[in-house]
Amino acid sequence: MIKVMFVCLGNICRSPMAEFLLKDMVEKLGMQRDFEIASSGTSSEEYGNPVHTGTKRLLAEKGISVAGKYATQLKREDYKKYDFFLAMEQRNVTSALRIFGGDSENKVVRLLDFTSNPRDIADPWYTGDFQRTYEDIMEGLQCFMEAVSENR
Ligand code: 4NP
Repeated sequence: MIKVMFVCLGNICRSPMAEFLLKDMVEKLGMQRDFEIASSGTSSEEYGNPVHTGTKRLLAEKGISVAGKYATQLKREDYKKYDFFLAMEQRNVTSALRIFGGDSENKVVRLLDFTSNPRDIADPWYTGDFQRTYEDIMEGLQCFMEAVSENR
């Protein structure tokens, strides 16, 4: 079982997009029983709010529903429950380490650090460009899946 928590700031745009895209990917691979997948935000700003319409619309176009997802905040107790905390950008890594009080097991990393071009995921908050966010996330998810498959 591989337990993955995606992390962004608000848990309404980027990390829910990654959560539901990876769920869809592992379902299509028939591997849903091998994964536990969730997402959360480092901030309490959007706590309890539904997924942003930009993410919701992009996923709906791909036949993916986000029904029942409401923003949650990353907690210190989450650290022992997951194997990977896949952050959308560097400041999420910094905030997650503050919440956890460190990262003794090296579980916290940016999603795009699994690629040959390590960088932050494009943030759609000010640009409204959810397509670019989608493309970055898919690149990261594909490289992440290759990395975990090689280590099994
Ligand atoms: P997310 O997007 O972190 O991808 O869910 C944002 C959500 C809220 C804010 C910024 C980005 N905000 O400034 O409140």
